Amino acid sequence: MAVATFDLDTWTDACLLRVENALVQWIDPQAPAGLGEAMRYAVLDGGKRLRPLLVLAAREAVANQQADAALDDAALRAACAVELIHAYSLVHDDMPCMDNDVLRRGKPTVHVQFGEAQALLAGDALQALAFEFLTPDNAGIAPQVQATLCRLLARAAGHAGMAGGQAIDLASVGLKLNESQLRHMHRLKTGALLEASVMMGAACGQTSSQAHQGLQAYGQALGLAFQVVDDILDVIADSATLGKTAGKDAANDKPTYVSLLGLEAAKSYANQLLEQALAGLAASGLTHVHALQALAQRVVNRNT
Ligand code: IPE
Ligand code: IPE
Ligand code: MG
Ligand code: MG
Ligand code: MG
Repeated sequence: MAVATFDLDTWTDACLLRVENALVQWIDPQAPAGLGEAMRYAVLDGGKRLRPLLVLAAREAVANQQADAALDDAALRAACAVELIHAYSLVHDDMPCMDNDVLRRGKPTVHVQFGEAQALLAGDALQALAFEFLTPDNAGIAPQVQATLCRLLARAAGHAGMAGGQAIDLASVGLKLNESQLRHMHRLKTGALLEASVMMGAACGQTSSQAHQGLQAYGQALGLAFQVVDDILDVIADSATLGKTAGKDAANDKPTYVSLLGLEAAKSYANQLLEQALAGLAASGLTHVHALQALAQRVVNRNT
């Protein structure tokens, strides 16, 4: 019997076409005093777009092949919104008061290109724009769905998620965290937005509590795996491949999974997390999960 194969690249190309078109269209170049240019520079032409892909893959898993234009629209908006929050977090992460990086997505960082004040404002404006995307006028998306998407994204971006994790990251420079402290920091600063991406996609459809729990377990394991691999790549990859400066964690004396466990143990931990993510997916009872499966494999086996 022929086994249907799933081609992640073809699936990704189709999704990214929708996401890139929406981002290009929705980020207003006319924002005053060059702000629009800085915002577009921060978001367009770069990045792996993993978070939007997770939103769309989770929407696909819960849609059960039932077309619903309003929920497809909600998922596309959520995909773009989470990418805006992510892009804003990168702009601020790179600033001199945080990681002080000059290279991002193969280009000079936003503050190098436009100045620190404009970078700060571009981040602020991208954050606000994310929530505007989620609450359109007259789009036919049920108010309950809009509210759920806002709540998931706000929670993951704020003190209990990315911003809180970044605060721990800065407070941990030069410290030796134990494994549970490091896991907590990574779950917040990176894992929360990735998990929220999955759960936002899931919110654009009907889920049983079994499916909800399985997707959450998948998102949590994947989110942590992502930052473990980011720590590994900082050590083993070069700046040209990464599009950002390699070796920065050791240079900035940041605690990472590599500094805690060593390179080989960090790699095997990432693989263990991949197995956990796939087990979560299996436990969800959902069947249209090919894209989610393949994305998890890509997260752990990526080289950029
Ligand atoms: C980098 O994220 C920052 C972290 C959260 C570790 P990505 O590796 O997803 O960056 P882009 O979006 O592809 O540039
Ligand atoms: C950043 O973590 C996580 C964010 C919330 C942006 P890193 O500081 O490790 O990300 P990179 O390595 O600069 O992309
Ligand atoms: Mg950082
Ligand atoms: Mg950084
Ligand atoms: Mg890093």
